[in-house]
Amino acid sequence: MMDILRISGPTPLHGEVQLPGAKNSISKLLTASMLTSARCLFTNVPSIGDTQITCEICRSLGASIQESHPRSLSVQTTEISNTKVPTVLAEKNRLSVMMLAPLLHRSGRAVIPAAGGDRIGVRPVDFHLSGYEQMGAKITVKEGVYYAEADRLRGVEFLLPYPSVTATENLLMAGVLAKERTYIRNAAIEPEVLDFVLFLQKMGAIIDYQVDRTFVIEGVETLTGATHEVIPDRLVAASFAVAAIASGGDLFVHGARQADLFTFLNTLRRVGGRFDIETDGIRFYRSNDLKSIALETIVHPGFVTDWHPPFAVLLTQAQGISVIHETVFEDRLTYVSELKKMGADIEVYDQCLGTGNCRFSTSDSHHSALIKGPVQLHGADIMVPDLRAGFTYLLAAIIASGETVIRGVEELDRGYEAIDASLRNAGAQIHREIE
Ligand code: EPU
Repeated sequence: MMDILRISGPTPLHGEVQLPGAKNSISKLLTASMLTSARCLFTNVPSIGDTQITCEICRSLGASIQESHPRSLSVQTTEISNTKVPTVLAEKNRLSVMMLAPLLHRSGRAVIPAAGGDRIGVRPVDFHLSGYEQMGAKITVKEGVYYAEADRLRGVEFLLPYPSVTATENLLMAGVLAKERTYIRNAAIEPEVLDFVLFLQKMGAIIDYQVDRTFVIEGVETLTGATHEVIPDRLVAASFAVAAIASGGDLFVHGARQADLFTFLNTLRRVGGRFDIETDGIRFYRSNDLKSIALETIVHPGFVTDWHPPFAVLLTQAQGISVIHETVFEDRLTYVSELKKMGADIEVYDQCLGTGNCRFSTSDSHHSALIKGPVQLHGADIMVPDLRAGFTYLLAAIIASGETVIRGVEELDRGYEAIDASLRNAGAQIHREIE
């Protein structure tokens, strides 16, 4: 039996929504808490599928986790009781490779099945593995399972071939308890990564950050427990923002922070979206017709890849031809085929329709799109392929005429907290049923 969402549109969204803590922070913070035997406390924890999956992975390795208050998790891993991440859990998200850090630092061995997560590209873990190998770990792979062993890891200079978010976070965890200094060059500096560094510092780590995107980590002997508030989810913030504007509504997003959305806000203004920044959030609305634009995704501080799929729905409502060039995940545009079923006029291309440096310029992956608008979308039966595509369809359904049925809702629930209730409160006609 699976949940489905039934949505009738079109309806403008009005009112207020509350941003939960960031999915892509809590999962890493939980992992880092296992670097110490002391207790850590997290507040503003999002109640989403990914938090549950990560808690299950941590528990399977020895963590004791309690919900001390609503939205707070208390975690203590007195000892590592198991050095193998269970395959059934590893398949559910991308976190298992991060477990190399607590397992190797505290037990000297780790058995990690290949990761699951969104199917938006090949998503290899070669940067992670090569970092650990350079730091002294011996890693072999057999039938999709990584077997790693290490005495104490030792610091090295590591140049990331691309500023990967989780590889940066993973190697930060490798470095904090390693012998001597670790340099991570060409590191990712997404807000979630910088916040992760703050948590590690609270635990006792010494991490410097240089202007050329290099982290310098001075290894310490032990880490202590710490308390940390999860930052608001800037990816969900952008989803709500485009939902307000694409539906012709007006939404106040509590907890949205200007600094985290800087590039997004510029892009929104170019399209014709409007926003008022207040101390406790941002109000999103529109007053004019929307204009077509060209946008290109790239690592922070550029336009985030996760902002792009819902933004594409907004662009179906803009006058003229818009261009999207996705340079982070080669298969992120798979959501387009279902949007076309709803009447969107979108063509995808394997050429680079942008000027930025793109690793997919010679690949045959469809990573560019031309979107013609405005069009009136219509309801359809839709299957969710990945998390951000899930919200994209939800938004398309809200602005479409007629009824849309969305299946594969568990993908959406992995990263959006009580999304149907939030949107229903804002006026969407959306119902969850069991099929
Ligand atoms: N890459 C490699 N080798 C590696 C690691 C990455 O080639 O060892 C490549 C990837 O294939 C991709 C690029 O580097 O082409 C960037 O990937 P990155 O590692 O930065 O992505 P990630 O850490 O797997 C996180 C978020 C994603 C978000 C990206 C980019 C988490 C759990 N996931 O993924 O979030 O899109 O950074 O900002 O933090 C989502 O929330 O829906 C989501 C997919």
